Amino acid sequence: MTDTGPRTLPGDLTGHALIDRIVRVDHAGEYGAMRIYDGQLAVLGNKSEAGAAIEKMRDQEREHLDWFEAAVPRYRARPTVLHPLWHVGGFVLGAATAALGPRAAMACTVAVEEVIDEHYAKQTRQLGDTEPELVAKIEQFRAEELEHRDTGLAHEAEQAPAYPVLRAAVKGACRFAIFLSERV
Ligand SMILES: [Fe+2]
Ligand SMILES: [Fe+2]
Repeated sequence: MTDTGPRTLPGDLTGHALIDRIVRVDHAGEYGAMRIYDGQLAVLGNKSEAGAAIEKMRDQEREHLDWFEAAVPRYRARPTVLHPLWHVGGFVLGAATAALGPRAAMACTVAVEEVIDEHYAKQTRQLGDTEPELVAKIEQFRAEELEHRDTGLAHEAEQAPAYPVLRAAVKGACRFAIFLSERV
């Protein structure tokens, strides 16, 4: 057996159903990520060192979003109907964490990017050798999300108030958002 092609389990999605799901959830996720940073910037502004770093990450999420925005029609994916929820939910998550201070804002980024790293790694495994352009973009974005996580750690995310609780809560929220956006 050669180690190429998508590795699937019985019941896993394949073919266009898989691509439809991947493009939908990633488009939703990149949109949500941008909104989180929008919310943080609304509270913290972009003048401080942390604010400038957040603005840089927000601009990168905008590039990720633009790529998936164009990918939705190109891969004939159905966009999520939950767009309005991510519009508000992302912003509120960003604003709420930033209201706790810049370290909590950075803790939010660390938690989000940890989930996204696993999420994108899983997708590249599922796609295997199919859809090389999509896989290349997911891998590029995954590397950039890991840079965001490192930016969060460099800005003392781990010293945020109640860091373990905050991190677990944000990770849980992200996983739930992914679950929903894959399906609806
Ligand atoms: Fe992103
Ligand atoms: Fe990111």
